[in-house]
Amino acid sequence: MLNSDQIVYLNGEFVALEDARISVLDRGFIYGDGVYEVIPIYARTPFRMPQHLARLQNSLDGIRLPNPHSEAQWDALVRELARKQPFDDQALYLQITRGVAKRDHAFPAGVPPTVFMMSNPLPLPSREQVDKGVAVVTAEDNRWHRCDLKTTSLLGNVLMRQLAVDAGAVECVMFRDGFLTEASASNVLLVKDGRVIAPPKDHLILPGITYDATLDVTRAAGVPLDVRKVTREEALAADEMWLSSSTKEVLAVTRVDGAPFGGGMPGPVFRRVWTAFQAAKPK
Ligand code: PDD
Repeated sequence: MLNSDQIVYLNGEFVALEDARISVLDRGFIYGDGVYEVIPIYARTPFRMPQHLARLQNSLDGIRLPNPHSEAQWDALVRELARKQPFDDQALYLQITRGVAKRDHAFPAGVPPTVFMMSNPLPLPSREQVDKGVAVVTAEDNRWHRCDLKTTSLLGNVLMRQLAVDAGAVECVMFRDGFLTEASASNVLLVKDGRVIAPPKDHLILPGITYDATLDVTRAAGVPLDVRKVTREEALAADEMWLSSSTKEVLAVTRVDGAPFGGGMPGPVFRRVWTAFQAAKPK
């Protein structure tokens, strides 16, 4: 259900969701020509905001769109929008598009970007999902080669996510040319023989802020860690598989393509890292 009274931000103003309007010629609508961020907010404190703003800058640079705001301005806008919501834990979404112009693929000259932000309750995994793990399906990664940019053109990810939903699973884990990349809206981490294995942050995966947070708590807990490419066979033979994202935190995978995975229960390394992750969150 949409809450039409919800306060959102559009182009310099805080307005009710029902009053937020953009042109049908917005290049975000016509071309998916924009970038976005999802920032988790715990007890009204943004988690790793500087890292999210750095990734936003990288996405903007990658699509050659000037940043409309300084870091300090973004910081103030994010906190103000969060303050205006009637709940403490939030998933704040912000997007910037290349603005409104006559339809033409080439960049329009002198057009201001469209800036939109909204913040919803943070949809964290249920206790049962944390305790029992979740199901995933697998598929060949057929997205473009700039998956490091957080662009609003998400049709590839949308189609992958729907494969998961159709199979009653929560995510679709992808492989490209025989190597693990990521899932449709999360990063994927593995454990083999007590070592955490993480695919490297290259142009084929989104550099997840939660991926970094998870690797930080893994290192701090003294768990050995390898950042390297992983084949499909190796991934499917791992002892544990985890998903990480701003809204899932770190979550164990216990079914893959309909069959139990890793003994069908979250593993010991997951439980250790999950507990350390909880302790590292703003309270
Ligand atoms: N998704 N990979 C993809 C393709 C993603 O869309 C996301 C995040 C991640 C994890 O990134 P982070 O840890 O910074 O959330 C990895 C967000 C939550 C979304 O689109 O809703």
